[in-house]
Amino acid sequence: MEKKIEFLFTVLIIYLGLVESTCKKGCDLALASYYIYPGATLLDIAIKLHTTPPNIMNYNPQIPNENSIDSGSRINIPFSCDCINGDYLGHSFSYQIESGDTYISIAGTDYANLTSVDRLKSSNDYPSTNLPVGRDVNVPVNCSCGDSSVSKEYGLFVTYPLRVGDSLNSIARQTNVSASLLQQYNPGVNFGAGNGIVFIPGRDRNGKYPPLSSGSSPNGSSRKPTSRGISPGVIVGICMAIGVSVSLVSWYLVYIRRKKKKEALLSNQSELKSRLAEDVPVQPEAVTSNPKHLGVAVDKLVEFSYEELANVTDNFSLANKIGQGGFGAVYYGELRGEKAAIKKMDMQATREFLAELKVLAHVHHLNLVRLIGYCVEGSLFLVYEYIENGNLSQHLRGSERAVLPWHARVQIALDSARGLEYIHEHTVPVYIHRDIKSPNILIDNNFHAKVADFGLTKLLEVGNASLPTRLVGTFGYMPPEYAQLGDVSPKVDVYAFGVVLFELISGKEAVVKENRSTLQPQGLAALFEEVLSESDPNSICKLVDPRLGEDYPLDSVLKMVELARSCTQENPENRPSMRSVVVALMSFTSTTRNWDIGFLDEHSLGSRVSGR
Ligand SMILES: Nc1ncnc2c1ncn2[C@@H]1O[C@H](COP(=O)(O)OP(=O)(O)O)[C@@H](O)[C@H]1O
Ligand SMILES: *[C@@H]1O[C@H](CO)[C@@H](O)[C@H](O)[C@H]1NC(C)=O
Ligand SMILES: *[C@@H]1O[C@H](CO)[C@@H](O)[C@H](O)[C@H]1NC(C)=O
Repeated sequence: MEKKIEFLFTVLIIYLGLVESTCKKGCDLALASYYIYPGATLLDIAIKLHTTPPNIMNYNPQIPNENSIDSGSRINIPFSCDCINGDYLGHSFSYQIESGDTYISIAGTDYANLTSVDRLKSSNDYPSTNLPVGRDVNVPVNCSCGDSSVSKEYGLFVTYPLRVGDSLNSIARQTNVSASLLQQYNPGVNFGAGNGIVFIPGRDRNGKYPPLSSGSSPNGSSRKPTSRGISPGVIVGICMAIGVSVSLVSWYLVYIRRKKKKEALLSNQSELKSRLAEDVPVQPEAVTSNPKHLGVAVDKLVEFSYEELANVTDNFSLANKIGQGGFGAVYYGELRGEKAAIKKMDMQATREFLAELKVLAHVHHLNLVRLIGYCVEGSLFLVYEYIENGNLSQHLRGSERAVLPWHARVQIALDSARGLEYIHEHTVPVYIHRDIKSPNILIDNNFHAKVADFGLTKLLEVGNASLPTRLVGTFGYMPPEYAQLGDVSPKVDVYAFGVVLFELISGKEAVVKENRSTLQPQGLAALFEEVLSESDPNSICKLVDPRLGEDYPLDSVLKMVELARSCTQENPENRPSMRSVVVALMSFTSTTRNWDIGFLDEHSLGSRVSGR
């Protein structure tokens, strides 16, 4: 009998555990208690946690000014608490790896034990002994939105990593919250353990403990204006709070970028919809090179409901996830009969963002991934046409992919050059991509290429909040004038395109893990320069992708090397325009075709001969 009861109890506990670990929606605000390591500045911390110093200061009245924070003390950092994959409440930060970083230093220092080494290992694919410098690590941090079954008094929670010396009583004293309540929020947790995470009530920017908003779900209600049971006053209050904090964050970003754009969060959905519905005339010519897409749907974006997106992605399940970018995850789904890639962005929509989206909706080109629609419920989603055949990086280096023959590489180069030329020269306004790299070049079933994410940097710039203050772009593809001085011109894309050409030639990654002599990571452009400077005239053959074997026309390869070198020159003015790049590549395709046809002819001739 006792055994039976014990068993039932275990089942109940496991069941409760399961129930507890799932979520329906998150909340707009949680706090992270950050223990400041020696030498850290507020700006360092703000960048790591995707916010800004002034926004942090709102929640930490003890900080006198931006430049004086005490190492060895704790500060609270605001972040949004999301329901991740319907699984648990948390936020996924992304952190750019610097040399010398390990999972231990990232978890224990950079993220102050807000995450753990094990979680970093399970959320990232990099070998823990050798983190690739310049790449992004996903950093999951847990959070809480409150628990109405414990108390409705508290609606804002701090994710608090325990340190040696903390105890239930010391935290109760600091927070003025009773020890028994703290323990109820963290059942079974030993506050004196010296490690692990607890959730404790936090104070808002007015220094008050905000209560749990009445409504079925804690705090999260402000995200869905349709949910019932909240007084309009509360909604207005929350909207104003979000509006104010977003404006502050944006103001700071704009200020440091010395731009004069102002931010305002749209306070309600209907205003948002009417904005998108009104047809402000936009200049970009809708030159549609693909007649299949001509028609009414072409320059009108479709607005999807959250429900519809959740339905077609099986609730944003891991099985439907096809990619992870710096600004959000990408999911596959079939929407209204069309295959779509749904990008969940780590941000909320603003007026400027939506205006920009409208402009982008009018840009069409065969070699640009088409934007189909968007969704602003909950978070922000962008819906793109789905490109069937993966990205260029996968084709060049994926072990499960067939080798890309040389003529396909030239075609991919030409297609992506055309896409870039189009945004550089033929749209109004013109765009600079700023994140050209092989994972952003998508391949269709006919081995034609389409450039993804154009216009995204502009969107991110006019958008808000979680845009990190670092440069947009990817290590290895950034030209010196941009990486060092932040100078932006179309030549930034030309440089990155040159690096993609080097990848097409060599099959290597944009950053080679280690140079042969210095054992340091090295950019592909530098590697080519080094090898080509050797006096050996055959040195180039050492760089050609070994997977090609002997199957390449040397003169076409040499021309491609020369083109890549001219695209990656130090001085941006010496790099060709994308228009000249297209012209150059067209000349190789004709020679490549001849070569290919010759190659085919020999074979078909051979079979004809043997057939006779
Ligand atoms: N429209 C699409 N069709 C198919 N796959 C896509 C599409 N968009 C993105 N992906 C996949 O998701 C990955 C990540 O996308 P993205 O967020 O654009 O990455 P990043 O931020 O690295 O540019 C891409 O490398 C690609 O493999
Ligand atoms: C994180 O935890 C490790 C191991 O417990 C500890 O050595 C380190 O000081 C902690 N870091 C912070 C910032 O608390
Ligand atoms: C955070 O949440 C996840 C998922 O519920 C859980 O596995 C993990 O142990 C939690 N704690 C930490 C410190 O990440």
